[in-house]
Amino acid sequence: MSAPFYITTPIYYVNARPHLGHAYPTVCADVINRYHQMVTEETFFLTGTDEHGDKIMRAARKEGLTPRAYVDKISALFRQLWPQLNIANDDFIRTTDARHITVVKSILQTIYDQGDIYFSEYEGKYCFGCERFYTERELVDGKCPDHDVEPETIKESNYFFKMSKYQQWLIDHIKANPDMIRPERYRNEVLAFLREPLDDLCISRPKSRIKWGITLPFDKDYVTYVWFDALINYISALDFPAGDKFKTYWPVVQHIVAKDILKPHGIYWPIMLKAAGLPIYQHLNVHGYWNVDQSKMSKTIGNVVEPLQLKNIYGLDAFRYFLMREMVFGLDSSFNEEALVLRTNTDLANDLGNLFSRVVTMVHKYFKGVVPVIDPLIEQELSLGLSEKAAQTVAGYQHAMSRFAFHKAMTVTWEFINQMNKYIDVTAPWTLAKNKSSRPQLQVVLYNLLEGLRVIAGLVYPVM
Ligand code: MSP
Repeated sequence: MSAPFYITTPIYYVNARPHLGHAYPTVCADVINRYHQMVTEETFFLTGTDEHGDKIMRAARKEGLTPRAYVDKISALFRQLWPQLNIANDDFIRTTDARHITVVKSILQTIYDQGDIYFSEYEGKYCFGCERFYTERELVDGKCPDHDVEPETIKESNYFFKMSKYQQWLIDHIKANPDMIRPERYRNEVLAFLREPLDDLCISRPKSRIKWGITLPFDKDYVTYVWFDALINYISALDFPAGDKFKTYWPVVQHIVAKDILKPHGIYWPIMLKAAGLPIYQHLNVHGYWNVDQSKMSKTIGNVVEPLQLKNIYGLDAFRYFLMREMVFGLDSSFNEEALVLRTNTDLANDLGNLFSRVVTMVHKYFKGVVPVIDPLIEQELSLGLSEKAAQTVAGYQHAMSRFAFHKAMTVTWEFINQMNKYIDVTAPWTLAKNKSSRPQLQVVLYNLLEGLRVIAGLVYPVM
């Protein structure tokens, strides 16, 4: 076994049913995890649900359920969906798990004891949708950029985390670790944000307003702000602080998140780790948004894409391949079903499917399904550069996978598939088969083709 590999997805809010936007990062995590297993690394794959806060409480009320019954119900939808998408996570963390709550409290206490959390009265603009205060600078025309509503002015006493104290440290850390946040555009976005003075983070909510949360260990009248609670899942699932998993998998983690949650992951999380005296995570991999026919996916517009529906129509392999091939990791993509149909017909049925079926049929027809024995001298003569192409393909694929460039990994694989199809056309095995004297040539050609299929099977295995 070589280096350990730890992959996480965001933990999903349970105020909505799982959709394509949740399936994408989880399939990415599964693909990269299977790839690392294939190169025999020790891997750990974590996903889960984010279950505290006002948003969840209101969603529960709307359905006439207690928060507990409601979070159990929706969390189960996520948990049951993943195996149906062939996702093999090792653990499923819920922020309402006792194991998680204990760790959140201990981290809060550590940071509080060392003086990085203080109590203060605060008046500010609060967006109930986001469950957080906004500074004037962050508002767009006086409105919350996510909810397009004017936040309400609230005055209350709360606990604050001294993020400002760590601002310069974070800038230096990101500069010293150029691939900590990738692709580069998101690293630049975080650095640009850090050019302005960083505000301290309000990490509590009074129970008079919100009860559904983790009680602060040092004040029973307050619960913990959902983001401070949620980010800690990445280590509570490893049985921090004493667990073997924590020792093995921290800090070699690879986080996957979408661009909308860059700030909590690129700013709050490293500062929380630093303040708690813990090593900083190694990589944050940031992807873009799936839009539907150019507009944002939303329940109100009614254009939410359901992963299971697509799987039932097109099959799981086509669905997973489409997600990996179509979106350039880091950029936004527009989902449309015609594109999925086109990829299924051209890439999967024509290119990949035909190649496999042609080769396997010929091996059965000419050699009764047995891999032919070959003469090395003829092999050299008839290879036509195919083995060099295979080696280049594997190298390109590995390079792409190391950067989470799934679309690129698929592109190089399909270039090789096309070279294999050309190899068949050029060597014309059906003509070789007509002549007994060209039997050794036929053996070599089919042997090479089978070897190519073996390589392709490995390259597509993490996805299909
Ligand atoms: N609970 C927080 C994450 C806490 S992680 C410590 C959260 N949850 S979420 O359910 O709203 O979103 C989870 C992830 O799914 C986010 O990265 C989000 O951006 C991603 N997606 C949700 N909709 C999406 C698209 N339409 N396209 C791509 N990903 C999107 O945020």
